[in-house]
Amino acid sequence: MDVSVRFLDDLRDAVGPQHVLTDADVVAGYTSDWTGRFVGSTPGVVRPSNVVEVAAIIEACRRADVALVPQGGNTGLVGGSVPLAGELVLSTERMTAITDVDADSGQLTAGAGATLAAVQTAATEAGWRYGVDLAARDSATVGGMIATNAGGLRVIRHGSTRRQVLGVEAVTGSGRVIRRLDGLVKDNTGYDLAGLLCGSEGTLGIVCRARLALVAPPIGVVTALLGFADIESAVRAGGLLRRSVAGLEAVEMVLAPGAFLVSEVTGSSPVLDPIPPVQLLVEAVGPPDPTDSLSAVIDEVDGVLAVAVATDARRSQALWHVRDAHTEAIARVGIPLKFDVTLPSRRLAGFCREVVDAVAEVTSRSQTWLFGHLADGNVHVNVTGWTTAEAERIERAVLARVAEAGGSISAEHGIGTAKRAWLTTNRGTPDVEVMAAIKRALDPDGICNPGVLLPLD
Ligand code: FAD
Ligand code: LAC
Ligand code: ZN
Repeated sequence: MDVSVRFLDDLRDAVGPQHVLTDADVVAGYTSDWTGRFVGSTPGVVRPSNVVEVAAIIEACRRADVALVPQGGNTGLVGGSVPLAGELVLSTERMTAITDVDADSGQLTAGAGATLAAVQTAATEAGWRYGVDLAARDSATVGGMIATNAGGLRVIRHGSTRRQVLGVEAVTGSGRVIRRLDGLVKDNTGYDLAGLLCGSEGTLGIVCRARLALVAPPIGVVTALLGFADIESAVRAGGLLRRSVAGLEAVEMVLAPGAFLVSEVTGSSPVLDPIPPVQLLVEAVGPPDPTDSLSAVIDEVDGVLAVAVATDARRSQALWHVRDAHTEAIARVGIPLKFDVTLPSRRLAGFCREVVDAVAEVTSRSQTWLFGHLADGNVHVNVTGWTTAEAERIERAVLARVAEAGGSISAEHGIGTAKRAWLTTNRGTPDVEVMAAIKRALDPDGICNPGVLLPLD
């Protein structure tokens, strides 16, 4: 996208000349996504430090009819954070302040560019905990997690990002500044604008700050790895664990091929050796100390081939490793086609078998990796070893199985550019028309991430 000298001058006036990057080598770092699959180009990267500067950037974009892509940690997995049609990039990397930490109410205010790890640390220092965790914690930002309504590893207990957000400060595409950062736990005063921005993927406006609710810190953490012969047994175990273990926070699934890969790529010895076909990573927290109750339930679970238990942080991390390292390990094999689907629990095991066969029918050279958040019915299907000519057929094969099983094409990563062609099939025309009407109301000039989420007309 060509932009005028006048437009770049307006941006420089808004944020200071040193925060408008146009050098080709520098901006290149902002134009490709985490997976390497989505690569674009940009006339510039603008780095505001606060809401006033963001509003000025939006005004300049509206005047010049220039579209922008908001970018936080750029760890998104659906091609939504990079300028694929030559848009301006608005990076939140300077908006990192964490303020107004309130140890009494268990709340804090975080800048859009604050990383998840920084929020977790601030919460812990205040005697609390942040309810969302995910493996990209050192880079993923508050703004990106709100925009994607990120889920992660503890959704069964604390919910996705939307549940943690008490209010936001944001600039809509129409230039309006909305702000509600008082942290009111109850607030029935009309439309929930913060909730609307959760999952909006940068298409309605720019999140600048958020008031986040914290959760009680764990006292006593027990982590277990359980081995099973098949996914059916693991799904049954997940149900028993959920109804029997108070303080259950995670029931995560990995399969043998992924576990072998993690060992190979990271040089780590598997905790369960020999590696069983299916492993569940289970974590429960107190108070009261959950160790005895989790052990008692594990004794009742059918089909357990092997168990490892950890009650200290170092050993717990060793158990988590096989799960946490999956996404990075798969990326080392090749650029993955990524699917992030939810299935009804009773269809999960069948889906996992069928999807591997369905991809193999398209191409026998590819490899399909499955892992995910078993308790949420959320499976990550990653395919490596594909060619461009095969990509669309693989997508059809996987997403047709999801539709047939009554599932959703995105559980937690969002739609981005990668799944946009499938949104109407999944949500239906009335839903998508209402979404488009909301987009027109909040972003009448279509400058906020126009290539993302909503299907082309
Ligand atoms: P970006 O990638 O920069 O942007 C993501 C989207 O948000 C884009 O559409 C962008 O335009 C928009 N956006 C960014 N900032 C703003 C803002 N301030 N205002 C408006 N829009 C904005 N996701 C999960 O849900 N669960 C997981 O368990 C999980 N694990 C992961 C593990 C790894 C190793 C990796 C690489 C990714 C993982 N993800 C996971 C995906 C990713 O981390 C999340 O989607 C995260 O929320 C993205 O945050 P980000 O700051 O990197 O956003
Ligand atoms: C995970 C990411 C990929 O669950 O969502 O590891
Ligand atoms: Zn996930």
